[in-house]
Amino acid sequence: TEGTLAEIVSHAKEYGFVFPSSEIYDGLAAVYDYGPNGVELKNNLKQLWWKAMTQLNQNVVGIDAAIFMHPTTWKASGHVDGFSDPMIDNLDSKKRYRADVLLEERAAEYEKNGELARAETLLAEMGRLLTAEDLAGVKQLIIDEKILCPISKTGNWTDVRQFNLMFSTQMGAVAEGSNEIYLRPETAQGIFVNFLNVQKSARQKVPFGIAQIGKAFRNEIVARQFIFRMREFEQMEMQFFVRPGTEEEWYQHWKAARRRWHEVMGLPADKLRFHDHEKLAHYAKAAVDIEYEFPFGFKEIEGIHSRSDFDLTQHQQFSRKKQNYFDNDINPETGKPYGNYVPYVVETSVGADRLFLATLCQAYQEETIVEGEGEEQKTKTRKLLRLHPAVAPVKAAIFPLVKKDGLPEKANEIYNQLRFDFRVVVEEKDSIGTRYTRQDLIGTPFCIAVDHQTLEDNTVTIRHRDSREQTRMPISELRSYIGEAVSL
Ligand code: GAP
Repeated sequence: TEGTLAEIVSHAKEYGFVFPSSEIYDGLAAVYDYGPNGVELKNNLKQLWWKAMTQLNQNVVGIDAAIFMHPTTWKASGHVDGFSDPMIDNLDSKKRYRADVLLEERAAEYEKNGELARAETLLAEMGRLLTAEDLAGVKQLIIDEKILCPISKTGNWTDVRQFNLMFSTQMGAVAEGSNEIYLRPETAQGIFVNFLNVQKSARQKVPFGIAQIGKAFRNEIVARQFIFRMREFEQMEMQFFVRPGTEEEWYQHWKAARRRWHEVMGLPADKLRFHDHEKLAHYAKAAVDIEYEFPFGFKEIEGIHSRSDFDLTQHQQFSRKKQNYFDNDINPETGKPYGNYVPYVVETSVGADRLFLATLCQAYQEETIVEGEGEEQKTKTRKLLRLHPAVAPVKAAIFPLVKKDGLPEKANEIYNQLRFDFRVVVEEKDSIGTRYTRQDLIGTPFCIAVDHQTLEDNTVTIRHRDSREQTRMPISELRSYIGEAVSL
């Protein structure tokens, strides 16, 4: 069976995947730290994304831009004026809520009670009011729906206000106010402002892409569901620059390519779906989410956005630097080069933390197993992480059967042969069964047992996490065997 979110959160903490940030001070809301196994899993996910983008596509190159950017960037991008959520405070409890989330939750209740039409009407009305920026109308809707503050059970609401999600801080020692800069709310802008630097230095021709992995920061009002919505998180974004008029074709290309990638990474097709946006972000011409079915329902893990030339023309206007590209290719209609234009952009944007959470939710299993035979037969439950070997924090654990007779030395010899290629560990403590259990809990695909026969014929038993089957194998074959399993 699959786990509930609460089980996954507690498993993640107990086995060193994710800890609440600053826990000894009772934590910091919506901020988390990755532990020793978590950082390995997350790094593996990031490396596989990086490889899928930059190594498998000759026309995609990477950058690593700074988190701090010139403050005008965020005026040009539209984030200063448009990157906000409607919030409402309850005067009685002094708690802050997102007005749209309160209404969405009410719609979800209707849906749960089978009142689908009612849910749909409510969502449509909310969408209409938000698009029209009718905040008084949104408040009226909350009152009409008789939504009470979940904590104090009152409907004592303030007006609805737009709340900007960017964090700001001061840079250097300049006069008050003039030195305010933002922590980037998306990595994408670091790519847009480097468009020409990259195009020229990497000698790229449109169509081409720029990929980046990095931290982003948003002062989310509603922060729940563990690492699903955090205030500090990591994005893996790729902006693909195309000739105007070809954007639809590339949008479809990346939409399909990105969904396929999630399936190859181990998220099953029936737990993924596309969700088209009705309400578009300020920059988007078309947008679709790839959603995964978490224990708390289908939720976005990645967005594919057709951003037109919005970003580059905005930066051109605000910086007064041309963002043109000269296209030498011959237009068959005119027989002349396509010439100068500002490229259109198709973006793929996935949250590393959301992908991590989806991977963990998918891998977490509790199953009943039968041990022994005849009269001795027993059933017990085991918990395990069925992680794809490519992303597992530890690829193999080596167990000397006993702590004597030269078996630990032999185990270390095997460790030394494998450690340059894979993250492997040697474990000597506790019974073999306990050691298997410990590795199952962190998702190690292989356990290698070193016994007395190993000393005679240089073979070991290799135990498979999912089937618990054990096979005997020469030590000399381990590297290619594990290597095969950990490649995608
Ligand atoms: N550049 C486009 C952009 O930032 P977005 O839909 O706002 O688009 C893209 O974010 C992805 O970033 C989301 O699909 C999600 O995986 C991740 N993400 C966004 N906000 C997040 C948060 N508060 N915590 C964790 N991940 C987040």
